Amino acid sequence: MGRSQVLVAALALLGGSSAAPLEARAPPATFPANPAIGYGGSVYRDSAHFRVYGRNDQRADTALRMLETAYDCYVNALGYRSTGLSFNDATDGDGPWTKINVYSVATLPGAAGVMHSDAGTGMAWLEVQQDYLTTPGVVVHEFGHGVHYHQKTWVNQGRTGAWWETFANWFADTYATSNLCATSRNNNGIAAGATMIDLRKTIGDSFQVIVDGTAGSGNYYQAWPFFTYLTNNPDNLSGLGRDTLRLMMTRYAANSNETPLHTLQRVAGSTSVARIVGRYWARMAYVDLAYPSAHQAWLSQRGSLNYANVDATGNGSYRVKAARRPQYMGANIVPLRATSSSIRVTIQASGAYTATLAIYRAGPSTRYVDVVNGAASATLASGEQATLVVANTPSLILFDPFSLSTQARTGLDYSFILTGATVA
Ligand SMILES: *[C@@H]1O[C@H](CO)[C@@H](O)[C@H](O)[C@H]1NC(C)=O
Ligand SMILES: *[C@@H]1O[C@H](CO)[C@@H](O)[C@H](O)[C@H]1NC(C)=O
Repeated sequence: MGRSQVLVAALALLGGSSAAPLEARAPPATFPANPAIGYGGSVYRDSAHFRVYGRNDQRADTALRMLETAYDCYVNALGYRSTGLSFNDATDGDGPWTKINVYSVATLPGAAGVMHSDAGTGMAWLEVQQDYLTTPGVVVHEFGHGVHYHQKTWVNQGRTGAWWETFANWFADTYATSNLCATSRNNNGIAAGATMIDLRKTIGDSFQVIVDGTAGSGNYYQAWPFFTYLTNNPDNLSGLGRDTLRLMMTRYAANSNETPLHTLQRVAGSTSVARIVGRYWARMAYVDLAYPSAHQAWLSQRGSLNYANVDATGNGSYRVKAARRPQYMGANIVPLRATSSSIRVTIQASGAYTATLAIYRAGPSTRYVDVVNGAASATLASGEQATLVVANTPSLILFDPFSLSTQARTGLDYSFILTGATVA
């Protein structure tokens, strides 16, 4: 017990039993369960912070181990507000604390899992179709929604709506693959899992709005590698790092209905969102996110991805295809074929953009050359290849991914001239 804690204990004694707590109490090792959240039931299995209803078997145990791993990583290691604390609790420190109820159900129309919130208790609860009870992309994803709900600020804000899915998939993928959760996985006997990255969508449709919630064609389930970029911060941009997603929630302006990109700008301080988004897309040229299994996925899939973003207009000039113009914070990734060791690009565009020559050599090693005032040049060493990346990075706008405005969907029209290279 530290010196100040001794003092607090002594003051509390002097004040008698009615004294207000002077310091936050540590949460109990095990939270009480509340069967009134959801359906309740007589068959269940408990862990310290969760109760699985509907079964009391090995699969329930496995699910609980996964959930406790995610809890340990996100709450204990990364500092997210505990899911034991009510959404309605304004003081946090002294609880009350409650387990998250997870219902294993035989059928769940139209979904493998769903998160509910109980308004009275301010608690998230989950339903998971029983076949997916131990699938991290479902059970940890749904718990990710629960964590999101318990952080409070991105709730009931229309413009954060689609970002729920982006966050939950980032949450599940980071749980399974990131070193950030390795200690939690090891402590619970959970092996690292496979990457959930969907390059066909994230690269093949990179021109879309960075988080697009359009039914049928949107990318909101697949856009999370952007969050991995913010978290892993391979460019060491000031203001970014392992806490960025949590800070994008804690520093969201309450009830402002701002977009998470506005909050990101507050978190990143002097690093502009345009710079961040531009460099994220540049790194997606070779899926170079300090995330080795995602890079491996790219190595095996690169030949089948859609990179047909521009048309040749003759004499080394190219223009973006009208249907592939990068929309708000989206980009085009344009692999080049060098014809000389010296390459140069000059760009003309209809609006603000961030463009980069991404240069790669198997190994992998990468380097990035910014396009400045419409031009960039590079000298390629033996074995190096280059890709031009053009991102549409205007000033921040308010946009609802579920209902994209014309402004958000308007693509960047641009053309460029290459010397020493052609479009591959
Ligand atoms: C970022 O910092 C790490 C650790 O200091 C270093 O290894 C890495 O090369 C840096 N990356 C860049 C792009 O500067
Ligand atoms: C092609 O480009 C070269 C170098 O920029 C220029 O000298 C030449 O006139 C151009 N030819 C045509 C047909 O535009």
